[in-house]
Amino acid sequence: MVIDKRSAALVVVLLVCAAALAASAVGDGPLLNGNFEYPPNQSQMNGTTVTGENAIPYWKTSGIIEYIGSGQQQGDMILTVPEGAHAVRLGNEASVTQQVSVTRGVYYSITFSASRTCAQKETLNLKAAPVSGYPAQTGELPVQTVYTSCGWDAFSWAFKAEAGIVSFTIHNPGQEEDPACGPIIDAIAIKTLNQPEPTQNNMLMNGDFEEGPYIPPDSKSGVMVPPMDEDDVSPLPGWKVMSYKKVVKYVDSAHFAVPRGARAVELVSGVETALVQEVYTTVEGSWYRLEFSVGDAGIGCGASSADSSSSPGGGMKVKAATGANETIVDVDFGGGSKRGRLEFQANTSPTMVVFVSLGYHTKSDNSGTLCGPVVDDVSLVAIPQPSARRLLR
Ligand SMILES: *[C@@H]1O[C@H](CO)[C@@H](O)[C@H](O)[C@H]1NC(C)=O
Ligand SMILES: *[C@@H]1O[C@H](CO)[C@@H](O)[C@H](O)[C@H]1NC(C)=O
Ligand SMILES: *[C@@H]1O[C@H](CO)[C@@H](O)[C@H](O)[C@H]1NC(C)=O
Repeated sequence: MVIDKRSAALVVVLLVCAAALAASAVGDGPLLNGNFEYPPNQSQMNGTTVTGENAIPYWKTSGIIEYIGSGQQQGDMILTVPEGAHAVRLGNEASVTQQVSVTRGVYYSITFSASRTCAQKETLNLKAAPVSGYPAQTGELPVQTVYTSCGWDAFSWAFKAEAGIVSFTIHNPGQEEDPACGPIIDAIAIKTLNQPEPTQNNMLMNGDFEEGPYIPPDSKSGVMVPPMDEDDVSPLPGWKVMSYKKVVKYVDSAHFAVPRGARAVELVSGVETALVQEVYTTVEGSWYRLEFSVGDAGIGCGASSADSSSSPGGGMKVKAATGANETIVDVDFGGGSKRGRLEFQANTSPTMVVFVSLGYHTKSDNSGTLCGPVVDDVSLVAIPQPSARRLLR
């Protein structure tokens, strides 16, 4: 009991500190109370429902927000939360907002965990709005597929800071019959995104995927990078994810077999999602060589669903295409990684470099976790035209 009082006093001190700060200053990692472990002000609660917009330390809320404790029951279902012991559920039209102090002109990625609860299809809207002036950046994230067997996934989103303080919001635009229904949100983190420039040895930007969204160090499931429009800021600098509603997964070498360096991309959505980079420095008529690694992620990816185009007996296939030429590289389940290569004469500029997994796969542990081949270490270089090369020999 004494200990409880002391921790209550600690929370009060923290709240006073929160009030003293105009906005949370940003370093790579969780936002202030980004995992919702500091409890809400009980005088602004009715049961588990938040009734005051400042009830949750460091956050401003609107709409029907429920403060969820791990193990809490909903009908027959026992709710679990992605991180720690607490999370929030965003009901219809509900949102959580935090002011974040950033550097104007710099790019940031946001990583957070979300799980669907009642509805089949859920969407979350994301917004980074300068506190004064300048346009807000918005995004829409489909949360309709569960990629990881535990029931929630970590998602990423990115924005360019248009001011020194931005107001970051996650909003559930839902119109469910039960207004309290909606996704559970937790573990919200931010990371500065560097924009690595192409080099003499590689015309691609971020060809090794070392730059990307924050991956929580203890997360075993990677981070989903959602589909994006032409004008959206990509959480994977240089790259776009093109899909109607499906993602690619950003993975780390601590939990996945990554062909080179510390990060790579796992293609988990089969032919429904393409990983694309547009290269503006190619010249029509000139020759180029694309090289890349394709590997098995080392997480027990095994089964192929019936509609998969994988060869019988297993294995995964990745198609790499540039418009002027394409190649398919196979990799066996558990088979490490191999290099693929493609030479082509640019028939257009810009050149689109595209990677697609040709199959649908799940982990062989029957957990239902979606998996697929890993792509990494992609390079594009100019080469002499083949006839000139023959003369050189
Ligand atoms: C809790 O909320 C009440 C009512 O809004 C307010 O008077 C009180 O100061 C709050 N306590 C803290 C610690 O913020
Ligand atoms: C608290 O919630 C209950 C159940 O939804 C409701 O009946 C009651 O009126 C609420 N109390 C307040 C003070 O809003
Ligand atoms: C396509 O790429 C392969 C592999 O590098 C190469 O052997 C082939 O000549 C290329 N085809 C064309 C039309 O460029």
